[in-house]
Amino acid sequence: MDYQQAQIAEIYDLVNPRAKDSDFYLSLAGPRPCSVLDLGCGTGALCCAFAERGHQVTGVDPAAAMLAVARRKPHAEQVEWVESSAQSYQAQRRFDLIVMTGHAFQILLTDADALAVLETMGHHLKERGKIAFETRNPRVDWVGEWAARPPLVRRLPGGQLLETLEITGKDGEFVSFQTTYLFPHATLTTSSTLRFPSREHVEALIVRAGLVVREVFGDWDAGPFEAARSREIIFIAEIG
Ligand SMILES: C[S@@+](CC[C@H](N)C(=O)[O-])C[C@H]1O[C@@H](n2cnc3c(N)ncnc32)[C@H](O)[C@@H]1O
Repeated sequence: MDYQQAQIAEIYDLVNPRAKDSDFYLSLAGPRPCSVLDLGCGTGALCCAFAERGHQVTGVDPAAAMLAVARRKPHAEQVEWVESSAQSYQAQRRFDLIVMTGHAFQILLTDADALAVLETMGHHLKERGKIAFETRNPRVDWVGEWAARPPLVRRLPGGQLLETLEITGKDGEFVSFQTTYLFPHATLTTSSTLRFPSREHVEALIVRAGLVVREVFGDWDAGPFEAARSREIIFIAEIG
């Protein structure tokens, strides 16, 4: 998906309404103010929600268009926004909690990129800090589900927005698709490729990055991961 495109950024919150994952990530910070790093923060809804709860937040994203939307949100002025990929982000400080949400981890198509992101997380984590991110379970038939999905309808002030998804390729762990947004007077089309690595593969990368896997959940109620049933693979990692 072309997150650098202003039109994509402008409709991101409309087509990705707040869901249960936000509450899960917010709960990880706990009630006391702490420092949070959100890698791939996008339009910053989670960053602003952390800031509203009194946490000290840094949101990092390579797409200026997404950050522009983020900066307009309530509590955005309490957040430090950084335009950078997660791989190349560098700061002198360390954080209590580091997250990568919204399946942003699946945008990392190579082991080298995924490892570089995990190393960024490790370098910026406090001794007793926590890392959390998720990826979709590849055992779920995502291609089948997405191919069969009827167009999604979203209400707009002046009409409605129709969202359709067409699978354009499947190659091992990689799924490519085209998303079309049909506005009353315009059409927007964008292409994406996502990687669907296994739990075991991501765990091996976490260990290669010098971290340890503390917990693996399978849903946003913190239920255990079950390979044959869970839709999500949610990793909690720490410094080893
Ligand atoms: C699906 S959105 C998720 C946004 C947000 N985390 C959420 O939960 O709504 C993926 C975001 O990852 C960002 N992104 C893409 N490549 C990235 C990278 N290498 N490092 C960090 N963020 C990246 C995109 O610009 C986009 O804002």
